[in-house]
Amino acid sequence: MADVSRHPRIELLTLAKVEDVSGSVGNFKVKVRQKPRYVDLKECTACGDCVAVCPVLVPNEFEMGLTTRRAIHQLFPQAVPAAFSIDMENCLGTNPIACGKCAEVCDKNCISYDDQERNLEFEVGTIIVATGQEVMDATPFEEYGYGKYENVLSSIEFERIISPLGPTLGHLFRPSDRALPKSVSFVQCVGSRCNDGRGRSYCSNICCMNTIKAALLIKDHWPETEVKVFYIDIRAFGKGFEDMYNRSKASGTLYIRGIPGEIMENPETKNLVLSVENGDTGQLEEHESEMVILSVGMEAPADMRDLQTTLNLQKTPDDFYLEAHPKLQPVDAATKGVFFAGCAEAPKDVKDSVTQAGAAAARALGLMALGHVKIPAITSVIDQDNCNMCGTCAKACPYGAITVDKKTGILATVAEAACAGCGTCGAECTRGAIEMKHFTDEQSISQVDAMLAEKAQDKIVVFACNWCSYAGGDFAGVSRLQYPPTMRLIRTMCSGRVDKKWILHAFAKGAPVVLVSGCHYVDCHYIDANRWTQKRVERLWDLMEKKGIRPERLQLEWISSAQASRFQETMVAMEKIRQTVTAEEIEEGRKVFAKNLLEVEIHV
Ligand code: FES
Repeated sequence: MADVSRHPRIELLTLAKVEDVSGSVGNFKVKVRQKPRYVDLKECTACGDCVAVCPVLVPNEFEMGLTTRRAIHQLFPQAVPAAFSIDMENCLGTNPIACGKCAEVCDKNCISYDDQERNLEFEVGTIIVATGQEVMDATPFEEYGYGKYENVLSSIEFERIISPLGPTLGHLFRPSDRALPKSVSFVQCVGSRCNDGRGRSYCSNICCMNTIKAALLIKDHWPETEVKVFYIDIRAFGKGFEDMYNRSKASGTLYIRGIPGEIMENPETKNLVLSVENGDTGQLEEHESEMVILSVGMEAPADMRDLQTTLNLQKTPDDFYLEAHPKLQPVDAATKGVFFAGCAEAPKDVKDSVTQAGAAAARALGLMALGHVKIPAITSVIDQDNCNMCGTCAKACPYGAITVDKKTGILATVAEAACAGCGTCGAECTRGAIEMKHFTDEQSISQVDAMLAEKAQDKIVVFACNWCSYAGGDFAGVSRLQYPPTMRLIRTMCSGRVDKKWILHAFAKGAPVVLVSGCHYVDCHYIDANRWTQKRVERLWDLMEKKGIRPERLQLEWISSAQASRFQETMVAMEKIRQTVTAEEIEEGRKVFAKNLLEVEIHV
């Protein structure tokens, strides 16, 4: 970090928050709000004279409240830049009559109570998102007595206690009597791998190794201390990690397979009793310990959600950001020119974070060194004469590539560099004012016409997205899975491109069944374009019901590229539906969705 701060081509903005990002790859405009520091960064030498005279004491957040700090303080030891800042919520200096001591004592006149918030704007070509992670709260796990029993701590609090730079300079003690504990127990997976709504269902990746490290450290410094670890299973899968685990066992740490159901405190001794079913013996056991450390999991910081909206990022169900592809583009966001480093994408340890940060920097550099970007040939084109500035396309665009403003009279415009070519805007436009280059309505409708020109009653029209469903069909083919020959496939880049016009046209041409198929939710290659597919199909089901057409004739299925058998099963199911559709029903569909009516009803 010190290197970063000294680098002539890196500008480090601390106490700053990204407020807004507009534009697209190569031309992002970033608005940043920087909080005032009240200390002149260039002049402050971090001599500490101001801290010595500050009369305000508040809990130190970095030390998890285990010690206090002054109102003028350094956020944490080794903070970059090594300068102080004033916490104005607690400072008495806003009323100089009440205080002003730090300003009086500062030789360099660094203190300025009038420092103001700054709004900054930058133009950048690429963006790397490194939002970090937060520790989970152990309070909901009432059975462990966190917050109730003094000697039950979270792993992050324990980390501060045993840190040489922490409040005790690395001396282990138990909070109730400040004595060296004779026994310490660790409880794993607090908040992680939890499906009862109090935590997260994923493994937080770092907790096992963190506990093994802490157990080794205790045994190294205080070999007489008894250490027990209660766990579901130990995940020591990194380089040298299994070795470290074995060393820890050899040092005398007892690993017990089983998570305590309850921790009770003896009110007199303040010792803690852990009740656990030992998974190896099947016996119910009680273990007494002077101190218990809850190994809390990691989660995405709450303010990641703001940046998700600002940058049009995809989120996983775990609230971390979703990469463009887990194997081939692990540090790329779906939004072009945006990359992820560290825990923005999932919980990670230091080594993985550093590796990913290097990869993200290389990806960004690769793009900028080229000086130009390749865009897909299939981008959307707006017929501005037909645009009424309703803004539907801008709302539907997963990439924020369309600008339109009725108030100021700005007609819909596409930033081509940001457009990924999903076609959702075209499918959602109620005036037919958007076309996709090389993927026009006319082309798709011609395909429907061709496939239904003869024996339409024997055909199932399938719209399949390129990345998942079509690939699933391919996979079914190469796997020699048999499916009915009645299906006819039309490939679209995304299911979001499937226009309601195309579907109704297929019914008007006598199709007994139409299937729209795409990637599963969160797998859509165009962020969340398939959510628009779902909404569109639901609106069509309502219309069909209203018009007396059996909605079952329009089907929606999510099939991934790996689901060959699901593709086969779906096609078999479609054929079964087709066989139930009578000639009268097909005729009714033809009449109801005939061209004239189609034009009236098209804006469902
Ligand atoms: Fe498959 Fe969007 S890419 S549904």
